[in-house]
This record gives sequence, structure tokens and C-alpha cells, in this order.
Amino acid sequence: MKISIIGAGNVGSTTALRLAEEGVGEIMLVDAANGLARGKACDLEDARALKKCDYRVEGTNDTSAIEDSDIVVITAGLARKPGMTREELLAKNAAIVGDVCRNIKKLAAQAIVVTVTNPLDLMTYLALKVTGFDKNRIIGMGVSLDAARFANLIGRELSVPPSEIEACVIGAHGEGMLPLPAFTSIKGVRLDEFLSDKKVEELLKMTVNRGAEIVSLLGSGSAYFAPSAAAASLVRAIAKDEKRTIGVCAYLDGEYGIKGVCLGVPCRIGKNGIEKIIELDLSAKEKEKLSCAASNLKDLIKQLPAEPSVK
Ligand code: NAI
Ligand code: 2OP
Repeated sequence: MKISIIGAGNVGSTTALRLAEEGVGEIMLVDAANGLARGKACDLEDARALKKCDYRVEGTNDTSAIEDSDIVVITAGLARKPGMTREELLAKNAAIVGDVCRNIKKLAAQAIVVTVTNPLDLMTYLALKVTGFDKNRIIGMGVSLDAARFANLIGRELSVPPSEIEACVIGAHGEGMLPLPAFTSIKGVRLDEFLSDKKVEELLKMTVNRGAEIVSLLGSGSAYFAPSAAAASLVRAIAKDEKRTIGVCAYLDGEYGIKGVCLGVPCRIGKNGIEKIIELDLSAKEKEKLSCAASNLKDLIKQLPAEPSVK
């Protein structure tokens, strides 16, 4: 199984490290910056003897190395600076992701594509449009990271291990994010059995702001430990045909009453990519928030380079 990661910066290289250590596929790291991907691959290779892991990882600035990949992860592009929204990255990252996707279409026409670059929901839509791949093969990583953050914050509040918390977040990976307390549980018990509405509301706000909080603390660049864990677990679900339900950014074609945008929803993930979109029974208020996130994205789609041709 050949897994290419385009963009060997913070998220790309840590995703490579996680996949390598978990023994998921052979990894090709590609970056436009001369020497960067090769340097990271050499460094990762040097760790093999210490970790007693015989993984295979290569790095290059030559995009043709992605040829015949089974899975391509796109982490190429600019990251936020303190005070910036993800949407402010739109023009520059659309140019980068557009180029990357034209290469994927040419060189790895059978691949399943995992998008990570921000603004995530729009870059996922752009990838779908530029590659022309079937919608099940274009998967955005965003709300699984947000759900992990929600679980972590709940875990800290209640002093329980986050691994015991099933958190659910849908919607946009950004201001239109919709953490769902009603679909969040601890060992099967609903969240509202443990926390007051006021406390839940506080945790929801903290979840929505978590990315910006980290950007501001770091001073330069954005989060990458949790993002790479989320990207790697998505790649593993595809590579190992796990059929797990994971929140991902998927093209909606009528599900949740929404059509023509890519938005975060729970999906069954396996060797064919998105194998099923799961429709949660949302309250009227939640439905309204989700459709509001969809219409905001539709407005922003107009700023993308050209009109879509979604299969
Ligand atoms: P980074 O700046 O560390 O790495 C980005 C890399 O992309 C750089 O090494 C750069 O040389 C490379 N690059 C730029 N243009 C390229 C091209 N045409 N071909 C190949 N490589 C190219 O940034 P980081 O932290 O790795 O973040 C990458 C992207 O992922 C950003 O847009 C960031 O906002 C996004 N992100 C998304 C998350 C999500 O949940 N969806 C979470 C974390 C980051
Ligand atoms: C995050 O949520 C920057 O989207 C990235 O950390």
C-alpha cells in the first residue's frame, strides 16, 4: 500500500511518523521546498533501528513520485498565523491545492484522497472538483480532530480518561463547527448526566476556539500533534478497511437536506473511502445550525477558482 503525503511540514511529517510507527503502508513524503521532504525522510529512517520498526519512508521534491499511490494525503499549504481565520488562507491555499490535485488526477487516478489543508471544507470541495474523482474518494479531516478536542476538554473537566469519551462534532471545521452534546457520551451515558448545560456550553465554546488558542500560544504555525493523529487514524481506517465510523468532511448530495457542499458528518470509512454517510437524528436547532454552516460555505465556494463538476 503506497501512501503519499504532499506537504512535509509539521502536519505532513508527523502524520508520516505516526503511520510509519504503526506499520501502515510505505510512505512517500513530497514537499515543494527543496530538500525538506528528503531530509525528514532520512531523519525518520534513522529512527528505525532505535524503534525496532522496519518501515519504509522516502522523501522528495519531485511530485511525480506520487505515481500510483493508493492514498494521497494533502497537507501542502500555508498555516494560520495568530489572529487569522482559516478562511483567510483561501486564495493562497486554493492555488496550491488546485495544483496538487491536478497532479493527483494525472499520476494517481485510482487514489483515495485525504485533505487536511485549510480552509478544510473548501479545500475538500476544491479537490473533488479538480480531480473529478467519485465523491467517496475525497475525504476531509477536520471534525474528528474537533471531536478529539471536545473529548479532551470534557475529560479534563470531569477527570476521566478521554479514551472513555465518545464525542461527536459535525459541521464545518471552523466557525460553523457544531459539537453535539446529545450524541456525546461517557461509557454509553449521555454527557448531560455529568455536566450542567452552562458547563457544556462553556466546553463547546472552548472546542470551537481550540485551534485558535493553540495558534496563539505557539506564536508561529498551528497545531500538528492532534491533527496528525486524526489524519493518520483516517488513513489507517482506509488502508486496513476498518469500516469505522469517523467524522469526516464529505460531499453532501441531499443528506441532512443539504446539497452541493463538503461538510463534516459521521461516515463509515473503509477501503473504498466514504462507504456510508450516517444521518443523525438532529434537533430542529441543530439542523438549522448545520444548514447555516452549509450556506456560509456555499458563499465561499464562489471565491474558488472555477465552477464545480462533481460526479
Ligand atoms: P507547514 O507550514 O508546517 O507545512 C506546509 C508545507 O507545505 C510546507 O513544508 C510547504 O513547503 C509545503 N508546500 C507548500 N506548497 C506546496 C506544494 N505546492 N507542493 C508540496 N508542498 C507544498 O504547515 P502545517 O502545520 O503542516 O499545516 C499544513 C496545512 O494543514 C495548513 O493549511 C493548516 O492550516 C492545515 N491544518 C489543517 C488541520 C485540519 O484539521 N484540517 C489541522 C492542522 C493544520
Ligand atoms: C486546527 O484546528 C489549524 O485547522 C487547524 O488546529
